[in-house]
Amino acid sequence: MENNYWEKVYQSKQVDKVSWYQQQDLKRLALIQHHVVDLKSNLIDVGSGASLLIDQLIEIGYKNLYLLDLSETALNTTKYRLKEKELDAGHVQWQVADICIAQLPTQFFDLWHDRAVFHFMVTETQQQQYIDVMRHALKPNGMVMISTFAEDGPTQCSGLPVERYSVNKLAMTLGQDFQLIQHDTEIHLTPWGTEQKFLNTLWRFQG
Ligand SMILES: C[S@@+](CC[C@H](N)C(=O)[O-])C[C@H]1O[C@@H](n2cnc3c(N)ncnc32)[C@H](O)[C@@H]1O
Repeated sequence: MENNYWEKVYQSKQVDKVSWYQQQDLKRLALIQHHVVDLKSNLIDVGSGASLLIDQLIEIGYKNLYLLDLSETALNTTKYRLKEKELDAGHVQWQVADICIAQLPTQFFDLWHDRAVFHFMVTETQQQQYIDVMRHALKPNGMVMISTFAEDGPTQCSGLPVERYSVNKLAMTLGQDFQLIQHDTEIHLTPWGTEQKFLNTLWRFQG
């Protein structure tokens, strides 16, 4: 993936003017709190962009948070925002990397969170690389929260083609070591009011 593409997106658009912007997702936060009870757990938001999820995770009290994105600008925007809000970013680790080839610690994460990133992996090679990195980095019994465009969702995001998923297709793609815990579909409203259908999924890694 050409990271310059995403750099340009984040250099040219305000955080709340991108189609995927979400101010708060209470359902997602509740789900994380339900399944990741220990506040010292290691949580990673893959392809975090400049998402506000991290602010809310810090406010809840999670201590070991990791953000990874192709775009340094997106992560810098997040750093600046946390400072402005006087939220303690001391426990956040930052990594500018392509998730398909990222170096991550072995069997480390209790939660792997991905909203609107895996669907950009449109070749089998990219999907397999992503899954290999995730398998390497997850603790046994670690949780995986992946949201993609649903099978009747948009065919593109930010001008890039995406792979759309039903829960069965995603299960086949992830492989049998990922046990489905729950899933639903959600209509996301872009800042300009367009509806986008998402598939939200939660899995337990049994590798
Ligand atoms: C649609 S945005 C979603 C951002 C964030 N997850 C959210 O929900 O607000 C997709 C994000 O994935 C990042 N991204 C795309 N491909 C990536 C890759 N191969 N490795 C790491 N990050 C990637 C982009 O830079 C962008 O921030």
